[in-house]
Amino acid sequence: MITLFDRKDSGQDDELVSTSSGTAQLSVAAVENAFVEGVYEKLASVYDLAFGPTLQPGRVRAIREMAIQPGERVLEVGVGTGINLSLYPKSCSITGIDFSCSMLEKARDRVARMGIRSLRLLQMDAADLKFADDSFDIVYAPYLISVVPDPVKVACEMRRVCRPGGRIIFLNHFLSPNPLVSRVERLISPFTVHIGFKADLDLPGFLSQTELQPVSIEKVNVPRIWSLVTCVKD
Ligand SMILES: C[S@@+](CC[C@H](N)C(=O)[O-])C[C@H]1O[C@@H](n2cnc3c(N)ncnc32)[C@H](O)[C@@H]1O
Repeated sequence: MITLFDRKDSGQDDELVSTSSGTAQLSVAAVENAFVEGVYEKLASVYDLAFGPTLQPGRVRAIREMAIQPGERVLEVGVGTGINLSLYPKSCSITGIDFSCSMLEKARDRVARMGIRSLRLLQMDAADLKFADDSFDIVYAPYLISVVPDPVKVACEMRRVCRPGGRIIFLNHFLSPNPLVSRVERLISPFTVHIGFKADLDLPGFLSQTELQPVSIEKVNVPRIWSLVTCVKD
């Protein structure tokens, strides 16, 4: 289901100046879990082809920059077809969650093909993680946060299950700070939800509502319109 509401441009170029700080309005497109699930059930068979190579540089860079240490516990939220799984070092323990049966089935096929060990794949809603507090060293959401109905709730869950001093990492496209580009992104967002994501998620507004403090924000992929956002849990 999609609804629209008015948004005003801030006119600011600085990406860290919020356009909707303190409000719940992070995107003009609103979706529900059932809608998103339906989209990914349909996308599963073509996902790797459609979103594999173009988004791969960001995936590779994110995991390289994590510098994961032996034995570290990593949670990938929205593991999808498991396209990241071969990128993790063998010495860490990976848990991947997703709520789409079809995407998880692809991930399970991939794990069997590649003989990946130290791995758990679980069906779960990112907004309601079934893990105890402080369970992971790294909680990573690649290309997920603009997909879910309530990004703030998901980020709070990610923070909860991350240990103090651990990292919460988002790899995602966010609303451009350029007023012209952001206008286009808001216009197309009600349509891009049908191919799996909102084009206009407001990063500063999102961060301020989650109370997460990023330690770095880097541009990735070509064109450089995706961001790798790393936060540390206090
Ligand atoms: C764009 S794909 C990202 C897949 C993969 N992480 C990647 O790097 O390409 C988003 C994934 O998030 C999953 N997803 C969406 N909403 C979710 C939710 N609320 N809980 C768990 N998974 C969700 C979708 O089923 C889909 O597999």
